[in-house]
Amino acid sequence: MHFGDMCRAPTTEVMMPSASYHFPKNFLWGTATSSHQVEGGNNNNNWSRWEEQGHTPHKSGLACDWWGEQWREDFDRAAKSGQNAIRLSLEWSRIQPSPYTWDQASLDRYRGMLQGAAARGLTPMVTLHHFTDPLWVTDQGAWENETTVSLFTAYVRRVVEVLKEQCSLWCTINEPNVYAIEGYLRCSYPPGTYSLKKFLLVQANLLRAHATAYRIIHELQPNAQVGYALHFRPQRPAHPRFPPDTWMSKLKFSAINMAFPSAISTGIMRSPVGKVPIPEAVGTQDYLGLNYYNPDTVAFDLRMPKELFSRSFFPKGSDVSEAGTNANIPSGFFQSLKWINKTYPNLPVYVTENGIEDASDRIRPRYLAEHVHAMWRAVNFTWPVRGYFHWTLVDNFEWERGWNQRFGLWELDVETQERHKRPSADLYEAICRENGLTSTMVEQYCPEAFGRLFPG
Ligand code: FCB
Repeated sequence: MHFGDMCRAPTTEVMMPSASYHFPKNFLWGTATSSHQVEGGNNNNNWSRWEEQGHTPHKSGLACDWWGEQWREDFDRAAKSGQNAIRLSLEWSRIQPSPYTWDQASLDRYRGMLQGAAARGLTPMVTLHHFTDPLWVTDQGAWENETTVSLFTAYVRRVVEVLKEQCSLWCTINEPNVYAIEGYLRCSYPPGTYSLKKFLLVQANLLRAHATAYRIIHELQPNAQVGYALHFRPQRPAHPRFPPDTWMSKLKFSAINMAFPSAISTGIMRSPVGKVPIPEAVGTQDYLGLNYYNPDTVAFDLRMPKELFSRSFFPKGSDVSEAGTNANIPSGFFQSLKWINKTYPNLPVYVTENGIEDASDRIRPRYLAEHVHAMWRAVNFTWPVRGYFHWTLVDNFEWERGWNQRFGLWELDVETQERHKRPSADLYEAICRENGLTSTMVEQYCPEAFGRLFPG
């Protein structure tokens, strides 16, 4: 174990201990984004159609106008504020707008963005699929159809052939579990069809695609690091001594978190809904991408059949966000990192997303500081956490919530495209520059968390 420096302030007036929690050299500090949420002008994918059909409170429209070149200024913001990495995704529907067309101009644009990242000292992590499918893929059943596996991997081959000089850290698929849960159980994402059978089938096909993409990338670029981003939510029983609550929390843990991890460990994708053998998935990860927001507390509830007879909530008195959809529970972050280390000892981990919706930046500073501290604890158990990507740089289009939720370190005025820095951006800058968290930062940005972070 190695501990951060603890030292007393050399003055008699300041009684507060001055302390810091440092991270290993070469740790990556960045922000995470996705194509549809920031580019604007996407009109050829399942989400643009979903928006047109009126399923979202607003449309993505120009988004953050990255396709109109605003990425340059946003990359400047990231680099000038001490970040050394950036996670972004490629839009399949731009690169392959129809089954027989490859759009070289889009690939060139992405190459330009990745070169722009490198020129600013930002190491890119590129996601190949982040919730969006080209309409021509949607129209043939998207991931319900096993043919999509080979279509996707042809796209991956093309992209990696063109962009391998610019990127060696690849994330095949973002949150395959969320794609399936929201699309086929909760019905808030396209296609919005309730089906347990498809919930399983779609994840099986996404996993086949991931496994094949993993091999293709390594064939083209042997020293690439390839993984996927798992949305991981610890499930805590409301009453640990009440067996129905513990059963439900275990059931939900498995339903939400375990499809991909079970298959990558054993070759059998397991879910409470069924199992599917996918032997080619075994070992197909060089790192695990962890998307962590908060855990759920779970209580047995006969009135909720669609939620597997349970209710998920945050305990009374939790530090919750404006819309009540996120909570500041850093112990769940540590618990998630611990689960990864136990499940895959020595596997590198990148935190591929972590953040909170908070337009007024009321909670975000303490959320950020307390999560960075939880990650520091993990690093000090020598668990190989290699980097952290905060969600997100600038407010972006938040799927079925439209523009109602603001996760940005910078606030975006969607009409004028103006950006305004939130105090959290300064705190994150201080963390990135220090490669750690200090008591001075906490005193300045979130003194209310001081006692928890530096108990003295
Ligand atoms: C995650 C998604 C990401 C973003 C955050 C808030 O589930 O991967 O695109 O919307 O939630």
